[in-house]
Amino acid sequence: MLKIDVLTIFPEFFKEVFDFGIIRRAKVAGIVEINIYDLRSFTTDKHRKTDDKPFGGGDGMVMKCEPIFSVIEQIIGTCERENYPQVTKVVLLSPQGRVFKQSVAREFADEANHIVLICGRYEGIDERVSDALVTDEISIGDYVLSGGEPAAVVLVDAIIRLLPNALGSETSAVNDSFTENLLDYPHYTQPRDFRGMEVPEVLLSGNHAEIERWRREKAFEKTRNYRKDLLDKEHS
Ligand code: ADE
Repeated sequence: MLKIDVLTIFPEFFKEVFDFGIIRRAKVAGIVEINIYDLRSFTTDKHRKTDDKPFGGGDGMVMKCEPIFSVIEQIIGTCERENYPQVTKVVLLSPQGRVFKQSVAREFADEANHIVLICGRYEGIDERVSDALVTDEISIGDYVLSGGEPAAVVLVDAIIRLLPNALGSETSAVNDSFTENLLDYPHYTQPRDFRGMEVPEVLLSGNHAEIERWRREKAFEKTRNYRKDLLDKEHS
């Protein structure tokens, strides 16, 4: 069982997002447990402040470290990274992190049994969170979101579908895009002729070797056209 804890100042954001499809099934099957922690309820001041003005001046607000330290202490039992169990990952979602991709999802799915996702907000988060608590800083791409919440959803989805028995068939994830640094091949279903657009003949042939060859060719063609960087990486 993988335990995922999400730390956020917008718990409502996650109200239903994990209640569909594969994630829901995985929760029901006891493959994963997801808990949402409201950082505001870990504040101790009268105004329940989760952010404050930056030391040194400048625009915007900075997320305070105390509520985050308090939650981590409660859910892991220690605020000292050196004392975390080996299988615990504390992830800060931020545009400054290592870029998330299939191999990183695989790493988390294989190595962790407890993942804590800290959703950053505003202009930043007190650096002492990174210094003391975080094991992995992750970005989901080279663009800036207004907070880490959508990024947390992306990680949860990508990781859960790689867990043993999360998908209907054990082999489904093996053929996913990116597993071999290749995009997926095109798919077709009924009807054979839709408004004059026909399903490629080879897929109707019943010749499995031919079909396999065609799919590989198309996967390469798509990758060459849209994501040449993936092919360059594979052969460098
Ligand atoms: N928070 C803001 N932008 C982000 C990004 N690109 N990835 C992860 N977390 C973020």
